[in-house]
Amino acid sequence: MGASRASQQPGADRLASGGLGPASGARPATAVLFVCLGNICRSPQAEGIFRQQVAGAGLQERFIIDSAGTSSYHQGELADWRTRQASAARGVELLHRSRPFDPADFERFDHILVMDHSNLRDVLALAAQPHHRGKVELLRSYDSQAADSAVPDPYSGGADGFDRVFDMCELACAGLLRRLTAQPQP
Ligand code: 4NP
Repeated sequence: MGASRASQQPGADRLASGGLGPASGARPATAVLFVCLGNICRSPQAEGIFRQQVAGAGLQERFIIDSAGTSSYHQGELADWRTRQASAARGVELLHRSRPFDPADFERFDHILVMDHSNLRDVLALAAQPHHRGKVELLRSYDSQAADSAVPDPYSGGADGFDRVFDMCELACAGLLRRLTAQPQP
C-alpha cells in the first residue's frame, strides 16, 4: 500500500462490505490494482502516485488502490530503496509491502493496470473468465502521448531509470484518473 495509511483500503474490504467501498453511499468505490513483476519498483510507484493524485482531487472515498507482483520474489518487502528515493524526491511516500498477484484480485478489482507486455501475458494467463481479461490493461495506454506502450523494468539499470519510471507513471496515472472520473456523455 502507498502514501497514506489512513487511505489504505485492501480490495478484500470491498468484498466483505458487499461490494461497496468505505464510503458506501450512493456510488460504489472503484478498485484499481497496479501490477509489475517484483512489486518493488514500478507498481508500488504507480500506486503511490495514483493515490496522491486521487487524494489531491479529494476523491479518496471513491477509490480502493493497491499493487501486486506477478512473482513472489520480494514478498513482504518495502519498495526498492531507489524507487522510494525517486518517489520521495517528488513528494510521494511509499509504504506498500510487496505481495504476489492473487487470482482472487480479478474479482476484487475493477481495473488491473500492468506495466509491460510480460506482465500482461502473465496476468492474462491467470484469468479464468472473459470478464477478468477485460479488466487488464497496460497502464501507459492511458498516456496518449506515450512513445511506447510499456513502463520498462528499472531494476537492473541506473538511477535515472527510476526517475523516468516516475514520469511515465505520473502521466499515465493522470490519464487513468481523468478517464475514471469522466462524466458520461448524455
Ligand atoms: P518491478 O522490478 O517489477 O518493477 O518491481 C523488478 C524488481 C525485482 C526483479 C525484477 C524486476 N527481480 O528480478 O528481482
